[in-house]
Amino acid sequence: MSLAPPPPVSTNPVFRLVDDLRREVRAGDFPPGHKRFSVARTKRFAQYPLPLLLDMYERYGPVFTLRVFHGNVVFMLGPEANHYVTVSHADNFRWREGHMGELIPLLGDGLLTIDGDFHRRSRKAMLPVFHRERIAKSAETIFEEARVAVDDLPGSGRFDLYHWTRRLALRIAMRALFGLDPDRAGRGFDAARAFEDALAFYSRDYFLQIARGPGSPWRRMHKARAALDRLILEEIARRRTTGERGDDLLSLLLDTRDDDGHALDDAHVRDEVMTLLFAGHDTTTSTVSFLFHELSHNPDVRERLEEELDAAGALGAEHLDGSALPYLEMTIDETLRKYPPAWIGPRRSVHSFTFAGVQVPGDAFVNYCSWASHHLPHVFADPAAFRPERFEPEARAKLPKGAYVPFGGGSRTCIGMRFGQAEVRAIAALLARRLRLAVPADYRLRIRQMPTIGPRDGLPVDVTRRERTTAPARAAA
Ligand code: HEM
Repeated sequence: MSLAPPPPVSTNPVFRLVDDLRREVRAGDFPPGHKRFSVARTKRFAQYPLPLLLDMYERYGPVFTLRVFHGNVVFMLGPEANHYVTVSHADNFRWREGHMGELIPLLGDGLLTIDGDFHRRSRKAMLPVFHRERIAKSAETIFEEARVAVDDLPGSGRFDLYHWTRRLALRIAMRALFGLDPDRAGRGFDAARAFEDALAFYSRDYFLQIARGPGSPWRRMHKARAALDRLILEEIARRRTTGERGDDLLSLLLDTRDDDGHALDDAHVRDEVMTLLFAGHDTTTSTVSFLFHELSHNPDVRERLEEELDAAGALGAEHLDGSALPYLEMTIDETLRKYPPAWIGPRRSVHSFTFAGVQVPGDAFVNYCSWASHHLPHVFADPAAFRPERFEPEARAKLPKGAYVPFGGGSRTCIGMRFGQAEVRAIAALLARRLRLAVPADYRLRIRQMPTIGPRDGLPVDVTRRERTTAPARAAA
């Protein structure tokens, strides 16, 4: 890549705290809201932010300030706000200097943590990797992995759907991204394990994340990162030396050229691979878990979905196109409305601006939030209800611009959207066709919010094998 990567950012928690406070004082007046530090509010936000954000919206409208941990954060909620931040005024917001920057110690300078020209050129170079035809090729891998995993499930008893899906999503990512088998001893297996170890850091409590001593989560994350880096960089070197290529995304990244015909260098490929693994793994896992949680509590929806799947004939990779199973698609859309895994879009404003008549300073943390926006009753009536019919084509067409943003928007819309959707479709279709999954009556869903929203305690499900359908999944036993 001919452009130099952006300068490094400090990871010293004391420096960051002082720098944030200094910049906040310089920024000037913040929009109305709760601007005094409060341990109770910070805890409430860290545990379950949705009710707090909706309450703030009621009191202050679509733009307000909330002091979380040590700093003021401006929240912008609702269709207009989402559109403003992601599309119409996207250039006035930086990702690297917002809370996405906290991912730099693990991800480096990949798409999630860069801005401006470096981002534009990186994204352009990577887009071919996610073209429809490429995803169609990955669909075979996705479908095959999901089929084998579903075939292996027992027809009765209890298992943890969240952990099962997480392992499957990592297998799919390892194969589709690296062309490696994560179950076979060797690179694939070690990389999957090291990745999970490194990722564990981001689900720890804030106060544990800023500790730096021996044995701290920070040190453990760095140890896992070093192991992962060795594996990824060795694999890159091996592919460059042997010229070996496959249908996996790493092969495509190695051959990608930017506008000036330059290949991505090794460090850049490493950072993008890590970013894709990170961004694509927990998002799909959470979507599948929330989907089955809702099916378990909404028998009418489950029955209609089962009917569609039974009528579909033999399931195959061609069903991973969004139009093949329309009710499944609406069910997934509604799951992503109620539980958008990447629930917050953290930014920092460049210049001050006025939104909905309220002045917001420059150099301030500004977040849009799909989760809260998807729960505004004047946009989605009875928002707590799970109703796939909201996404019937006519109803969907009536949604205001910016109302539904589970994949973000504008020039930085989720680059892995098609890949993630294909994965969720495959896993959901094969599972729902074969098995009935019921969440135990005494299970209470508690949602954790970092790094994406997901079930805090996993998702136990009781399994019953559905009656053999007349048209079993192709290639299934
Ligand atoms: C159900 C699955 C997924 C959901 C709901 C989702 C959601 C999102 C959202 C909301 C954003 C924008 C965040 C913002 O505006 O701050 C985003 C960005 C991104 N996603 Fe996804 N994602 C999913 C799957 C994936 C997968 C499978 C991959 C990779 C294989 C991926 C890679 C990325 C990357 C690299 C970005 C940053 C794009 C850029 O800034 O240019 N995502 N995703």
